[in-house]
Amino acid sequence: MFQRFRRTRLNNHLRALVRETSVSVDDFIYPLFVRFGKGIKTEVASMPGVFQMSIDEVLKECEELKKLGIFSIILFGIPDVKDSIGSDALCEHGIIASSVKAIKEAHPDMFVVTDLCFCEYTDHGHCGIIDEVNETVNNDATLEISAQQAIVHAKAGADMIAPSGMMDGIIETLREALDGSGYENLPIMSYSTKFASGYYGPFRDVAESTPSFGDRSSYQMDPANRREAINESISDEAQGADILMVKPALAYLDIVREIKDNTSLPMAVYNVSGEYAMLKFAGMNNLIDYDRVVMETMIAFKRAGADIIISYHAKEVAKMLQKGKR
Ligand code: PBG
Ligand code: ZN
Repeated sequence: MFQRFRRTRLNNHLRALVRETSVSVDDFIYPLFVRFGKGIKTEVASMPGVFQMSIDEVLKECEELKKLGIFSIILFGIPDVKDSIGSDALCEHGIIASSVKAIKEAHPDMFVVTDLCFCEYTDHGHCGIIDEVNETVNNDATLEISAQQAIVHAKAGADMIAPSGMMDGIIETLREALDGSGYENLPIMSYSTKFASGYYGPFRDVAESTPSFGDRSSYQMDPANRREAINESISDEAQGADILMVKPALAYLDIVREIKDNTSLPMAVYNVSGEYAMLKFAGMNNLIDYDRVVMETMIAFKRAGADIIISYHAKEVAKMLQKGKR
C-alpha cells in the first residue's frame, strides 16, 4: 500500500477554502454600562476602552456600533440608589427600563439584551435578597422578584432577557412569568454555567457591585467541577432556556465544548472583564501583538463551540475584520 507522508502545501487561497472556523461581526454582543445623568462617559481604570455612560451617550454609542456592523448589545445598569432588595431594578423608571425604552425608540434595529440580576442594585452587592439569619441569598424570594424584573424589562421593550444570578429554578420561573404576561416569544439567554471566578474583578469596579460581605460561591459554580457545570446547562435547557452560556470563557473552553456536544441549544460565551483586562494591559505594554492575540482568542471560542461571543473586544474585532484581519 502506498502511503505518502509529505503533506501537500496549501496556498493561501486553498487555506481559506478549507478553514474550519471563522469569526464574524454577527457573532458578537457588546456589553454597555448605563447610569443616570447627561453627557457622562467615564472610562473604567481597570478596563481601558470601556466606559460607564449616561443614556444620551449610549444612544451615540449605538450609532457607532451600527457603523461597525454590531447590532447586539447587553445592558448593565448602575442605579443612583441601591437598597436591600434592589428596588431600582423593579421600577419602570429604573435605569435599565429607562435605557431600553430610549434605545429601542432611537435605534429600533438594535437587538437589546438585558442582564437580569440584583447585584448592581443591592446595597450589599449580592445577586438577590439576603436572609438575615444565615447571611446568604434566599433563592426562592429572589425568584419572585426576578420574575418582576423580567416583566419590567419586557415592558420596556427588551429583545432578550439574560438572567445572570444562577438561582435554582430561575429559567422555569421566568418562562412562566413571561408566558403568563403575553411575552411568549421573548427569548431567555441563561447564564447557565457561571463559575465563581476571580476574572470578574474589573466588572465589579465598573458596575460597583462587589459584595460587601462574603462571596458568590453559594450560588456560583466551583471551577473544579466539570460534571456539575455541564448538568447546570442541561437543566436550564430542560427548563426552557433558548440560549446557554458559559462564563468566564477562556479558562473554561473544555466546558463549552462538552455542553455543546450534550445539548442542542445555541451557546454563548462571556469573555469577561478580567480576560479583557489581561490582554489589554499586556498589549498596552507591548508584551503581545494585541490584535493577533485577540483574534486568536475569538477563534478559540468559536472552535470550542460558541455561537455567540459577549465581549468588550467586539468593536476592536469589528475593525480588524473590516481591515481584512482574520
Ligand atoms: C452580574 C454579572 C457579573 C458579570 C456579568 N453579569 C458579575 C458577577 O457575577 O459578579 C461579569 C461580567 C464580567 O466580568 O465582565 N451578575
Ligand atoms: Zn449578580
